Amino acid sequence: TLDPIPGETLSTLLRERLRLTGTKIGCEEAECGACTVLVDGEPIMSCVYPAERADGKTIVTIEGLASTLTPSPSPVGRGGLHPLQEAFVEHGAVQCGFCIPGQILTSYALLKRNPNPTSDEIRFALKDTLCRCAGYPSIENAILAAAQSMRTGEPVQSPTHIPDSIHSHKTVGHIHLRPEAVEKVTGEAIFTDDLKFEGMLYAKAKRAMIPHGFLKKLDISRAKALPGVVAILTADDVPAEKTHGLVIYDWPVMVGVGERVRYVGDALAIVAAESQEIAEQASALIEAEFDLQPVITNPVQARQEGVPQIHEKGNLLKHIKVRKGDMEKGFAEADVILEHTFHTPTTDHAFIEPECSIGVPLPDGRMEIYVGSQIPYQDRIQVARVMGWEEERVRIVGQLMGGGFGGKEDVMGQIHVAMLANVTQRPVKLLFDRHESLLVHPKRHATQIRIKIGAKKDGRIVACESELYGDTGAYASLGEKVMTRATTHSAGPYDIEHVRADCYAMYTNNPPAGAFRGFGVTQS
Ligand code: FES
Repeated sequence: TLDPIPGETLSTLLRERLRLTGTKIGCEEAECGACTVLVDGEPIMSCVYPAERADGKTIVTIEGLASTLTPSPSPVGRGGLHPLQEAFVEHGAVQCGFCIPGQILTSYALLKRNPNPTSDEIRFALKDTLCRCAGYPSIENAILAAAQSMRTGEPVQSPTHIPDSIHSHKTVGHIHLRPEAVEKVTGEAIFTDDLKFEGMLYAKAKRAMIPHGFLKKLDISRAKALPGVVAILTADDVPAEKTHGLVIYDWPVMVGVGERVRYVGDALAIVAAESQEIAEQASALIEAEFDLQPVITNPVQARQEGVPQIHEKGNLLKHIKVRKGDMEKGFAEADVILEHTFHTPTTDHAFIEPECSIGVPLPDGRMEIYVGSQIPYQDRIQVARVMGWEEERVRIVGQLMGGGFGGKEDVMGQIHVAMLANVTQRPVKLLFDRHESLLVHPKRHATQIRIKIGAKKDGRIVACESELYGDTGAYASLGEKVMTRATTHSAGPYDIEHVRADCYAMYTNNPPAGAFRGFGVTQS
């Protein structure tokens, strides 16, 4: 029995007050389905469902799913698991696992009303429960297998058998279950936002929200006066190096007064407060004034003469070249020449778990940072550089990652929580909401690619000339490396005698672009 808190959502009640962290938060806008739980047997998105409305109702979360079986625990399969959980493990339907509680509970409701669904009915039932790891075929197979088990009382069928001829191998041809799959189907798997530390503070970054300009004035006085605010830090408080980056240190930890804002996601200040709500209110009370500058929106514009230069060294991050053979000779040999210009868009990774970092100061002066990061050792280097510490003083405690796909290679909140935890000497959590995640982290490079191909009538390609423009956004991130791959792959997987490729990786005022599945090759 719990007293209602006005405005509290069911997901907050479950996660914060009951510590049932198997219910995940991906968007807080009833779009992704990660927060799905059952209320009186119906799947609902608990991130927008008022907790008070659940009064007197039966709620099933992923933690309690197995207990819905009679007799309990499961008479079939792995002890204590519901057939759906069992089937998700067996069929490899679990990847990062962040969406899995929502997938399983949505499937449970489907099988309750339709014990023998078709593939189309499964797909329709799951249309609002997103899996960004894109394990849909395995998820569908798992649901079909669970449905059969529940109808017949037989054990859950494993995926199609592998031919006996392959079984003589020790490893190849055998199905190996993901080691942490069981925790991921029961809700026991812990992601960074599921952690809570004694005395933990909550952080929020004040973002520039303009694409290009100079910061003229920053006033934190009203925010500082808000009860519950414990610390507010600005660029003046950065202890040592002012910038971070994966290849080039060109990304400011925070933009200071008089300095250049290069994209909407630039941080101007960071707040630590007793609650998330107070941190957000304080951030909104910080006032910033800018001297706005013309905006560079695409990489072709960025290379034109007379346009504003976003960085001191100019707008060109790197000119990447490939040279092979003699282009004039190659095109002279061709019977057919085709030339086209293509455009590929910016893409967001849209991992279902938004970025979260927790900094925990240790009594001996070291700092632990809990984060689901793709390159923990790079995080350590970058945090230590900014703090002015030996690397040994920083320990990155890698957590399960609810999807990354390249988008969790760059530092997001790691440095900010280290600074706030160091100043307050309390643990500090910085969790992005979906808007902040979309706004701030590096994307897939948008490109313009002109390709001219010469070929013989027998189909042999004899010459290929390409010119690429890559939008690396405000900061370098892995732009140089990604666009190098785009360039070296721009002639495709062919043996061509005469090749020339030129790529211009350009800074713009768009969000930075970096690693993303395929790493530049996708665009080419
Ligand atoms: Fe579905 Fe990762 S397993 S989002």
